[in-house]
Amino acid sequence: GPDAGPLVFVRRLEAGDYAKGFMELLAVLTTVGDVAEGDFIRRVRDVASGPEYVYVVEENGRIIATGTLVVERKFARSCGVVGHIEDIAVLTSAQGRGLGKVIIHALMRVAERMGCYKVILDCAEKNVAFYEKCGLTQKEIQMVKYF
Ligand code: ACO
Repeated sequence: GPDAGPLVFVRRLEAGDYAKGFMELLAVLTTVGDVAEGDFIRRVRDVASGPEYVYVVEENGRIIATGTLVVERKFARSCGVVGHIEDIAVLTSAQGRGLGKVIIHALMRVAERMGCYKVILDCAEKNVAFYEKCGLTQKEIQMVKYF
């Protein structure tokens, strides 16, 4: 149907994704700094034990989209679980094909399966319309302090 989105396979991040341009993709989003392959592989191994779940879409041997779910275990809400959506990025040349939406929906399915009662995220004003199309609504404000 018209809402089915592109036929793409979303999978967990793996060590081999360094060579497939994962770090270059992240540059779409933020400052990535110098990350050597060894650092990347160590981080992938650390992340494997949770609570971060990093997902990617690969096309023709390149990573073209990514998103992360962080699962926060709370004491409130009867020891409830909250999903935090982080680091959503689609390669500039692949934007507008529905991949961002595919990643968000994949993260939301994982969050639901893990028992999260909600997912939340912080974003720039310019991305509000995108997240609204993904079914989220605006609530409250973000604050930050850099160290
Ligand atoms: N303004 C209005 N509507 C938009 C915008 C926008 N900036 N971007 C996408 N949409 C709409 C699309 O038109 C589409 O609408 P439709 O479902 O009616 O057809 C819907 O949102 C889904 O769009 P996608 O094609 O899935 O979006 P895309 O794959 O281009 O990904 C994203 C959007 C992730 C924001 C991408 O542009 C990107 O990577 N930007 C740079 C990095 C970034 O800002 N990431 C988000 C940071 S916030 C965070 O990580 C929590």
